[in-house]
Amino acid sequence: MIELAEVQKSYPMGGGERLPVLDIHAFALPAGKRWAIVGPSGTGKTTLLHLVAGILTPTAGNVRVAGTDLTSLRPAERDQFRARNIGYVFQSFNLLAAFTALENVMLAMQFSKVIPQHQHRARATELLQRVGLGHRLVHKPAQLSNGEQQRVAVARALANRPCLLLMDEPSAHLDTETAQRVTELVGELCAEGEVTLLVATHDPHLLESVDHVVEMQAINRVLARGAVV
Ligand SMILES: Nc1ncnc2c1ncn2[C@@H]1O[C@H](COP(=O)(O)OP(=O)(O)OP(=O)(O)O)[C@@H](O)[C@H]1O
Ligand SMILES: [Mg+2]
Repeated sequence: MIELAEVQKSYPMGGGERLPVLDIHAFALPAGKRWAIVGPSGTGKTTLLHLVAGILTPTAGNVRVAGTDLTSLRPAERDQFRARNIGYVFQSFNLLAAFTALENVMLAMQFSKVIPQHQHRARATELLQRVGLGHRLVHKPAQLSNGEQQRVAVARALANRPCLLLMDEPSAHLDTETAQRVTELVGELCAEGEVTLLVATHDPHLLESVDHVVEMQAINRVLARGAVV
């Protein structure tokens, strides 16, 4: 489902210098599996998820998702590919401030056009109910707690029945009980739709629920060189 080959990513630092963050010889995640990625802060977990989502492009190498080479697509094509195939739960939620919880989930469906329009409202409502937010449909992000915003982000990521779900610390703002409920929901939806999951997390419950845990130190050669953290 995910294949990275000789992928490097560095960020410009000004003055012509670049900060090397990722150098991955090979990373492959088979379809239908649930994997977690762990590693200390700053080791490139978010950068890796952004590359797999096509939000960032690598400095070198290729990123393939579901057989498509993301690096060969134009930016608008990558956005469309992501909308149709990938659900992404951002570390910082990234909800649209001007819209309600319900609208945030519906807008994700409007952009990708995977789910027929007449089902958008009912599906968004159902997903928000399943993450325990049936009573917060018309609240805007600023009127929601961090944990509630996180759950709207989870509902939005699942809206288009993605074949790949990427989650960046999805339970960081949730209490143990809510985190467990969200983990169960993600598990159910993954099983229903044969969703492949890659999640950056240190949550012990979430780690227990996955098939395999990958350590950044094991795949990122930049860390072996001691260039980061
Ligand atoms: N846009 C950017 N420009 C320059 N450097 C960046 C940029 N984004 C991230 N970095 C640097 O890249 C490194 C990896 O960042 P990244 O966010 O991928 O780490 P992480 O493993 O997700 O960390 P955390 O656990 O704190 O979320 C960090 O050292 C960070 O400072
Ligand atoms: Mg991160």
